[in-house]
Amino acid sequence: MAFDSLGAFIKAADEIGEARFVDSADLDVDVGCLAELSTERKGPMLVFDNFAEYPRGYRVCSNALQTPRRLALAMGFPFDAHPVELVRLWKERRRTNAPIPPTMVTEGPIFDRLQSGDDVDVNSFPTPKWHSDDGGRYIGTADMVVMRDPEADWINVGVYRGMIQARDRISLWINDGNHGRIIAERYWAQGRAAPAAVVLGCDPLTWMTASMSPPFGVSEYDVAGAYRGSPVELVPLPDTGLPVPATAEIVLEGEIPPPSEESAHEGPFGEWPGYYSHEGNEAVLRIKRIYHRARPILLGAPPNRPLVTGPTAVPSIAVQAWEHLDRTGITDIAGVWAFSHQLMLVVALKQRHAGHAKQALLTLASLRAGGMKCFYVAVDEDIDPSNIDEVVWAMCTRVDPSSDVDVIHKAWTADLDPRLTPAQRESGDLTMGRMMIDACRPFAWRDRFPKPNVFAADERRQVETKWRDLLEGFGQRPGPRKTG
Ligand SMILES: Cc1cc2nc3c(=O)[nH]c(=O)nc-3n(C[C@H](O)[C@H](O)[C@H](O)COP(=O)(O)O)c2cc1C
Repeated sequence: MAFDSLGAFIKAADEIGEARFVDSADLDVDVGCLAELSTERKGPMLVFDNFAEYPRGYRVCSNALQTPRRLALAMGFPFDAHPVELVRLWKERRRTNAPIPPTMVTEGPIFDRLQSGDDVDVNSFPTPKWHSDDGGRYIGTADMVVMRDPEADWINVGVYRGMIQARDRISLWINDGNHGRIIAERYWAQGRAAPAAVVLGCDPLTWMTASMSPPFGVSEYDVAGAYRGSPVELVPLPDTGLPVPATAEIVLEGEIPPPSEESAHEGPFGEWPGYYSHEGNEAVLRIKRIYHRARPILLGAPPNRPLVTGPTAVPSIAVQAWEHLDRTGITDIAGVWAFSHQLMLVVALKQRHAGHAKQALLTLASLRAGGMKCFYVAVDEDIDPSNIDEVVWAMCTRVDPSSDVDVIHKAWTADLDPRLTPAQRESGDLTMGRMMIDACRPFAWRDRFPKPNVFAADERRQVETKWRDLLEGFGQRPGPRKTG
C-alpha cells in the first residue's frame, strides 16, 4: 500500500512499533544527537514535537527509512524478508513496473497556509542543528528540489542539502553532474534565474526516489509512481507552475539566480562519509512564497557516520549494482550489498568458471552511479553479503593478499572524500584508488577447500523452530535468505 503523506507513514510505522514520539527536545543538541544514536542502534523513526518558541504541532521527523522493516513498510514488502531479499524485490519492482506518471490535482493540504512578500520566514519552522560543528541550520536534508528543464519540458527532482541563510534565502549545494545542476546551468546560460521549489517533507518513498538518479529526461516522480504502484498526486504551484506533492508538509517556492549574481557561503556540514569535508560558496534559492500544512512536519535525513548502511536501511546502490551485473550478463548472483553507505560493495555469487568472480568485480567497478567508492568484494554464495561479520570472515580466510587483491589507480571520487590530500583538492585532482578483493574460494581447487564448521541451513532451521522460545532471548536474526 502506498502512503499518501508523511503523516500516514508515521501512523503506520507507529502501529508496527517502529516510531517514537519525543516532546520538548532541544533543537541545538537533542534532536541531532538522538537521530545519530537511533541510527547507530538501528532504532526507531523519531517524531519530535513541542519545541520551545514554536507552536505545538510544528514537528520534525528523522530516521524514516533506517530499518529494513520501515523500508519494507514504505515499499509494501514483507516485514520479515531478509535484507538481501529486499534488494532482490526492489530490483524486481524496478524491472516489472513501468514508470507511472503523476496525476495533477488542483487542491491539497499543502495550501493550508501561505507566507508571501515580507511575511516569508523560513525560520518559522523548527530546524535542528544536526551536528554541533555545522555552519548553520540545515532545513534541507530530506528535501526534494523540483525544477523544469527549460529545453525539454520535463521535471527533475533531486535531494540537495539546503542551509538557512536569511528569512527568505537558503543555499543549495548541487554537485556538478547532478541533473539539477545541469538544469540550473541551462537557465543561467540564458541569463535567467532557475525557477525552483523545495519540498521539505512528503511520503518517504517519494523522497527516497528523488535521491536516486534515473537517466536525464526521466522524472523521479514517474519512478516514484512505479515504486508506489500508484501515481503521486501533484499540484502546480501558483507562481512557477512547478508540481509538488499535494500532501507535502512545507514547500519553498522561488528561483535560483546564477551564482555570479548571488551566492552564499555554506557549510561546513557533517556529511555522509562521516566527516566535515566540504564548504564553500554555493547557489541560493530566493524564496518568494512558502506553503505549508497547518501542522507541518519537517522531514530530516541528517548524514550520520555510515557505520553500517546509510540513509536507507537497504542501500539503493546495491539494487543498481545488481541490475548492472544482470545487464552485463554476469550470472549466478546470490546477492549484492553495500556497506558504509556505498563505499564498499559486496557481491555473493556461485562461481561457474575460472575468472567468474573477477569478472563480477570488474563489472561492479565500472558502475557509474555514486562515484565515491573504495572497496569491491566478491564472496561465495554461502556468505551473506549483508552480514559484515561473514564478509570479514571470508576476507580473512579465503584471500591470499599477494594474489587475490587488485588496485585500480586514479578512479573518480567526490570532494566529500576525506582521504583526498590538500594538494589534490587544490589542483582539482578528485581521484582515488579502489581495491577489488576476490574473497571466494580459489576456483581451481574450490572442492578441496576446507569445509566450514557451521551447521547446514536446514539443520539450523529445524533447531531454530524447535527451540524458538529459548532462542528469542538470543537477539534478533533476519529471516532466511534466498540464494540463486
Ligand atoms: C540524504 C541525502 C542528501 C544528499 N545531499 C546532496 C547534496 O547536498 N548535494 C548533491 O548534489 N547531492 C546530494 N545527494 C545525492 C543526490 O540527491 C543524488 O545524487 C540524486 O540522484 C541527484 O539527482 P539528480 O541527478 O536528478 O540531480 C543526497 C542524497 C541523499 C540521500
